[in-house]
Amino acid sequence: MLIKRPDDCPSSSITPRELFERRRDFIKTGAGLALAALLPTAQAAEKLAGRPSLYSSDETQTPYKHVTGYNNFYEFGTDKEDPAANAHRLQTQPWTLRIEGLVQKPKTFDIDQLRKLAPLEERIYRLRCVEGWSMVIPWVGYPLAALLRQVEPLGSAKYVEFISAVQAENMPGVRDRVLGWPYVEGLRLDEARHPLTLLALGLYGEVLPKQNGAPIRIVVPWKYGFKSGKSIVRIRFTDTEPLTSWVEANRREYGFYSNVNPQVDHPRWSQKRERRLGEFGKRDTQLFNGYSEVAPLYAGMDLKRSF
Ligand code: MTE
Repeated sequence: MLIKRPDDCPSSSITPRELFERRRDFIKTGAGLALAALLPTAQAAEKLAGRPSLYSSDETQTPYKHVTGYNNFYEFGTDKEDPAANAHRLQTQPWTLRIEGLVQKPKTFDIDQLRKLAPLEERIYRLRCVEGWSMVIPWVGYPLAALLRQVEPLGSAKYVEFISAVQAENMPGVRDRVLGWPYVEGLRLDEARHPLTLLALGLYGEVLPKQNGAPIRIVVPWKYGFKSGKSIVRIRFTDTEPLTSWVEANRREYGFYSNVNPQVDHPRWSQKRERRLGEFGKRDTQLFNGYSEVAPLYAGMDLKRSF
């Protein structure tokens, strides 16, 4: 995010959705099986289905190739292709998520417990990056609120901090001080509990690919993509606003709220329009990324100041 320009994805690298689907169908057939072994990517990934959700967008989904091949995951490098190339080194088993801080019952969950905690849903959400590109991704997960209530937050808890994993030996990016590690994100408690805020365990009907934040990540669809912390290991309830990695890196450019807002430009990138990966041309960016139901969370706030 610090160094790349918005239009840095060549259109030549875009796979039309039908081509991708045809390839998947081909792989399912006996004739395709032998060839499938030769193909890289995640065809052999464990399936993870979710029931359709009313919160889903009906827009065209961004081809799998972009969703898993054009990523920001600075622990694995700052180029868009770095996470797909390097994230296979992330160790995801065993994995635990600790929830602590201002709560009645701090707890540690393993992935099996997390998968069973609430019914899995498929949520097709828009994701818009502050750099000016966007995607439509079919996530698999459930509302983060279902997890947060397990630990019985205290009345004094006002914020939630999300802390990503650091595996220095597996993450070439953490040698780079481009951000402070671990990657930290945060939400106000009411934002974290909003029914749109998702704990994601999968996408496109499979367990999360590593470059997308395996085995668990947060997805906050009305905020810029960087609010959606990947590969999280700790959630902490606090009474003060968490110092997030991007605010710490550059508080003039990145605010705590970071709601998608075409009226508030980033110093280096206009936020008025966006380019959907896999499409030509640009479209207008919508306030809150089009998720207008979150507006009451910000009633009375000056969103230019609290950007
Ligand atoms: N989480 C961690 N731990 N490290 C990161 O560098 N990048 C963020 C966010 N979560 C990031 C992260 C940014 S800038 C974006 S745009 C989204 O992840 C990208 O998610 P995606 O690659 O699944 O599209």
